[in-house]
Amino acid sequence: MDWGLKNRLSRIIRPETGRTVMLAVDHGYFLGPTSGLEVPGETIKPLLSYADSLMLTRGVLRTSVPAEFNIPIVLRVSGGTSILHDDLSNEDITTSMEEAIRLNVSAVALSIFVGSAHEKETLTNLSKLVTQGVGYGIPVLAVTAVGREMTRDAKYLSLCCRIAAELGAHFIKTYYCENFEKVVETCPVPIVIAGGKKTPEKDALALAHNAISHGAVGVDMGRNIFQSDNPVGMIQAVRAIVHKNATVEEAYGLYEKAK
Ligand code: 5RP
Repeated sequence: MDWGLKNRLSRIIRPETGRTVMLAVDHGYFLGPTSGLEVPGETIKPLLSYADSLMLTRGVLRTSVPAEFNIPIVLRVSGGTSILHDDLSNEDITTSMEEAIRLNVSAVALSIFVGSAHEKETLTNLSKLVTQGVGYGIPVLAVTAVGREMTRDAKYLSLCCRIAAELGAHFIKTYYCENFEKVVETCPVPIVIAGGKKTPEKDALALAHNAISHGAVGVDMGRNIFQSDNPVGMIQAVRAIVHKNATVEEAYGLYEKAK
């Protein structure tokens, strides 16, 4: 792996632990002003010091994150559809690699929709992005998006993750599922998990704990942090699980204490 690419990736997946807590705040790219992210800058500011990286779009980066704050950025560069459409898979690449470099990002992210109407376009977009990213030393995060009608099981998620890795993604964001270790075992690059819809805090911490215990290198969590009644406590609790191997009870204690 090229030195620059490896260096950028090591800003996200921390060499001290080989793990990462990514804060996902890119939801507005197809959901608009998602609950908890109505004014992104206000949500993001108190969480910045606890995240290993921030996943977001160029618009929110430019308007809502102080350029002086030194946090690795994972820039979402796919989009082009909205929640008003049943089929969300019709995405394209929305931001050039040159702009990503000007924004000094550590990685770029794109969703793939395996099994959807636009499977081919999203997969070839991933390949093109990897080719460009490798050319400039920018790692690519593939996000395995799941259509409403699809089952998030190990068979399907292994398929998505393996295809993303074969096409050259440097790390992959997917969902936790039963037999998750199968997804990890058959994927040659690191996997982080999404948190999914807001659930009770202890359940979200258990999800993070299960994912880490079964081989994920971290989380790229959004709603279960910023929609919590105590986002700072929640991200601290997630960090304890990811970086310090805390139990769910220990982590939940941190969340409660921060309240
Ligand atoms: C959407 C995304 C989001 O960043 C992701 O799903 C957010 O994480 P969470 O599910 O934890 O809110 O990539 O495709």
